Amino acid sequence: MDLEGQKVAVLGGTSGIGLATARAAVDAGATVVIAGRDPQRLEKALKELPATVTGATVDATSTDSLKDFYSDLGTFDHLVLAVSGRAGGGPFESLEAEQLRRAFEGKFFAYFLAIQAALKTLREGGSIVLVTAASARTPFPGTSGLAAVNGALEAMIPTLALELKPTRVNGVSPGVIDTPWWDDMPQERRQAAFAQMAASSPVARVGQPEDVAGAVLFLLADSYMTGTIVECDGGARIK
Ligand SMILES: NC(=O)c1ccc[n+]([C@@H]2O[C@H](COP(=O)([O-])OP(=O)(O)OC[C@H]3O[C@@H](n4cnc5c(N)ncnc54)[C@H](OP(=O)(O)O)[C@@H]3O)[C@@H](O)[C@H]2O)c1
Repeated sequence: MDLEGQKVAVLGGTSGIGLATARAAVDAGATVVIAGRDPQRLEKALKELPATVTGATVDATSTDSLKDFYSDLGTFDHLVLAVSGRAGGGPFESLEAEQLRRAFEGKFFAYFLAIQAALKTLREGGSIVLVTAASARTPFPGTSGLAAVNGALEAMIPTLALELKPTRVNGVSPGVIDTPWWDDMPQERRQAAFAQMAASSPVARVGQPEDVAGAVLFLLADSYMTGTIVECDGGARIK
């Protein structure tokens, strides 16, 4: 996969899937800029990446913050959205409306605002990849809120691909991936949950951020791909 000479911005690039994507994009020859809210997390991520990668602190839920980011970035070729709202999980019966609103703010509206604000400086014929989630289409008790947020994003992708053409718009829909997204869950409980999910997975393991990064890179690099969503879930939806 060749991204030589292309500039890739990864929002949510300071951790997990976004960080792995940034690394893979550098390996493919791209100039990469990563962004997240926490300056310490950003600094740590930059230390883990090749020195050519630059970074910025950005809050993707803030129009002003996004405006500053894109203005500093200048024209670029690809936008990867790997921002996590981290809210909205849990059984429907006890899911609070406020929690679900926060989930929409933190992910759906972050992606919406980040794409809209990017349009002035994203090169026509470049591409956008939205990292969504398998909960959008694979039913699993306790994920109705996450399904709603990610389903809303996935529903927009084909329409956006038509409206924004020749810029390509695609999604990658990950299953369970071992990233800091899970840090709120105590270590022991997380290990047990991962072991259980691995046991029922057709590929007998949970995913790694690099698995998803590979799918994102494919969509960035293949100029014949648009309006589609790649499931990167170890076969979770067919089990
Ligand atoms: N891990 C999984 O099992 C899994 C499964 C399915 C889908 N996903 C999706 O994959 C995407 C990436 O998740 P991950 O697992 O890589 O999570 P992660 O390790 O928690 O990384 C999330 C990234 O988003 C950044 N971020 C969060 N809110 C932001 C905001 N408002 N503005 C800018 N940056 C923001 C974080 O940095 P700061 O906190 O410093 O801002 C961090 O860089 C998310 O959309 C998640 O829903 C993950």
